[in-house]
Amino acid sequence: MDGTYSQNDLSHVVAADKAHVWHHLIQHKPFESKDPNIIIEGKGMRVWNQAGKEHLDAVSGGVWTVNVGYGRERIARAVYDQLMKVNYFAGAAGSVPGALFAEKLIEKMPGLTRVYYCNSGSEANEKAFKMIRQIAHKRYGGKKHKILYRDRDYHGTTIACLSAGGQDERNAQYGPYTPGFVRVPHCLEYRKHEQAGAPDQHYGEWAADQIEQVILAEGPDTIGGLCLEPVTAGGGVIPAPDGYWQKVQEICRKYDILLHIDEVVCGLGRTGTWFGYQQYGIEPDFVTMAKGVASGYAAIACCVTSERVFDMFKDDMNDPMNYFRDISTFGGCTAGPAAAIENMAIIEDEGLLENTNAMGDYMLDRLAELQGKHAVIGDVRGKGLFLGAELVADRDSKDPVPEAQVQAVVGDCMGQGVIIGATNRSVPGRNNTLCFSPALIATKDDIDQIITAVDGALSRTFG
Ligand SMILES: Cc1ncc(COP(=O)(O)O)c(C=O)c1O
Repeated sequence: MDGTYSQNDLSHVVAADKAHVWHHLIQHKPFESKDPNIIIEGKGMRVWNQAGKEHLDAVSGGVWTVNVGYGRERIARAVYDQLMKVNYFAGAAGSVPGALFAEKLIEKMPGLTRVYYCNSGSEANEKAFKMIRQIAHKRYGGKKHKILYRDRDYHGTTIACLSAGGQDERNAQYGPYTPGFVRVPHCLEYRKHEQAGAPDQHYGEWAADQIEQVILAEGPDTIGGLCLEPVTAGGGVIPAPDGYWQKVQEICRKYDILLHIDEVVCGLGRTGTWFGYQQYGIEPDFVTMAKGVASGYAAIACCVTSERVFDMFKDDMNDPMNYFRDISTFGGCTAGPAAAIENMAIIEDEGLLENTNAMGDYMLDRLAELQGKHAVIGDVRGKGLFLGAELVADRDSKDPVPEAQVQAVVGDCMGQGVIIGATNRSVPGRNNTLCFSPALIATKDDIDQIITAVDGALSRTFG
């Protein structure tokens, strides 16, 4: 292979992939008898594979990433121009796009002031964990070092992030884990019958109270941070119930616990506001983001903090250890913030937050229609263009359908040229939610096409 390929004959690309690429997230045995999917081109909401087959992408690049859609020349040109100017310098120095994107980002995040650049969602979360740990050492003799995370949430792939991971199946076989991470219960109202003591009324407050119970059991003076997704993504598309967030905020203030919101999926418009936490009036100390920040046109992630947090790292100039002693080599790549500036401008210029709200409502209605038709849909939920449909064998017992059947629905849609997602191998026995996260440019026609595909797939899979 010499690195060149023919647009018309991709057989050697497929052969090279099969021989050498270790794909993410999937088993490889099937590739001994069939070809992997190789995405050749994308435009708007659509991608084409090596066979030339067109797919409507209802999951923004598979994992909630390509928020502004494919083929954005404006972003590509900005990245090109920036790379020709200067591609990289370590983050101890500044860069033009780094400064300008930080300024624009902070305009959208009242109450927060500082942007720490890195290059993946996992890494951004690790930065927040490290900052919380360092604050514990600087201020509390190391005692206030524990970090709370929630059942069913996911914060990334590294060992520390898995230690903060509430998805036991995803974590399995990768231990032992980092000490000092403590789990709190989930807040999925649809499954409250599985939680001992959950009330019929005011479930949101009760779910938040469960966090306080954990804090009291562990000792409030040992807890430094609480890390939560604003809407749980891969754990089942779970928006928190009414009353939850206000109580969470109160609890954090009461026990002086830093609130870290993981916006890796919700960030940059996915739920119809710039950030998911802004739907709920939350005032976080840390916000981490990655996927939608530059819609996958370049790698970029940010850990954004309040000035209060930042100040804790610069209060004693005479102490040589008194700063955040951390580096992210590729956090100094300029392509990321250059792409992110244009990505944000596109969302503004094209009114994509408004579109996300309008199309999100439309899609939720269409999913509710499907729920009326297919008994297997037990619950539909979500915010903006971040939606889920939970599939159950029986609406009364709410027993989940087997994961294989959920995957059959996904496979059927794929056969029809529509890429949807599903929770998979994450929460044991609870991988039964179809996931939808089309780009923020989605139209009614796109959504109708997605719904038609799911309708047909459900009929064929469940009768
Ligand atoms: C909520 C959340 N946080 C963090 C991550 C990790 O991001 P990355 O894969 O960029 O490390 C993900 C990835 O799916 C995620 O969904």
